[in-house]
Amino acid sequence: MKIKILISVLSAASIITAMPAMAEEKPVTEQLVDTLTTLSGGPHAGFRSNHAKGVMLEGTFQPSAQAASISKAAHLQKADSPVLVRFSDATGVPNIPDANGNAFPKGIAIRFQLPDGLSTDIVSISVNNFPAATPEDFLGLLNAVRDSQNSTAKPSPVEQFLGSHPAALKFVTTPKPAPVSFATQPFFGVNAFKFTNAAGQSVYGRYQIIPVAGAQYLTKEAADAAAPDYLMTDIGERVKANAVQYKLLLQIADKGDEVNNATVQWPESRKIVELGTLTLKSLVADSKAKEKTLMFNPLQLTEGIEASQDPILLARPTSYAVSFGRRLGK
Ligand code: HEM
Repeated sequence: MKIKILISVLSAASIITAMPAMAEEKPVTEQLVDTLTTLSGGPHAGFRSNHAKGVMLEGTFQPSAQAASISKAAHLQKADSPVLVRFSDATGVPNIPDANGNAFPKGIAIRFQLPDGLSTDIVSISVNNFPAATPEDFLGLLNAVRDSQNSTAKPSPVEQFLGSHPAALKFVTTPKPAPVSFATQPFFGVNAFKFTNAAGQSVYGRYQIIPVAGAQYLTKEAADAAAPDYLMTDIGERVKANAVQYKLLLQIADKGDEVNNATVQWPESRKIVELGTLTLKSLVADSKAKEKTLMFNPLQLTEGIEASQDPILLARPTSYAVSFGRRLGK
């Protein structure tokens, strides 16, 4: 008996001494999910560790006449590809009020159904830049926010971080007004991709998803008075009355533009090509059940579209897969 207790104490002790080393060895992509979970007061079983609150719709995508000159991707040639879209609020808080300051940026995830059972995704946000150029820096920012929650230090860890990271400061100070509706919110791809047409010509570009209804925002007073689920409810009511449409645009990089750094915006004067029109026609009937079993992936690509070497873009699928696995209880 004594021996058994000793062994269990010893093994517990060895687990405890091994723990700090194991925690440090976790990949950054997993540490990011851990901190996102902590920041949202999670884990919240069955929900995404970021962009937890969402709503799903379905519709079609119609490519423009010039889309094929940019890429040979199937949905940029073929009419009426079916699409599945998920709009979301930021953070891993499943019931965050839609107009809450932490519920920004808003998200849009689009899955295009391609021939032969294939699909390709676009996953974008409502701000045209990102706070960090690398996953390590993003983790630094999130950890600084976490460490500031119970800190009396002046400046706080997050103030210190923002003081030495101008891109993060720019992102947190970019105005993020509450939209009237998801149907009046523009979205931006932020990460660049390489597009190749049938003639083998390539360009780098970043997506913009622009509402046909135009960008429209609430006044501060209206946002303060908005119902907690006003965006999620509104979009369902809108599509019952009329289809909701967006133009899918591509901002094309010039020679010398930074394609591997999501913190660097390209000048507005860059050429913009319209790739097509997204038309959302109805809510997904079993939205809540469906979104749980689905993982959108910005690197779910198809022939004619390739990833850039942006370290943020390359890190995303691993973090998303960790979050997805936890959502499924794995
Ligand atoms: C290293 C950087 C990033 C990390 C660690 C990260 C982390 C995450 C995680 C863990 C999720 C939940 C995924 C799931 O459970 O299915 C998520 C969702 C999402 N992320 Fe990111 N993200 C990063 C960068 C970005 C960027 C650059 C964008 C857009 C430009 C973005 C937009 C979104 C959106 C829209 C969703 C919700 C997708 C959905 O509806 O399923 N994220 N992110």
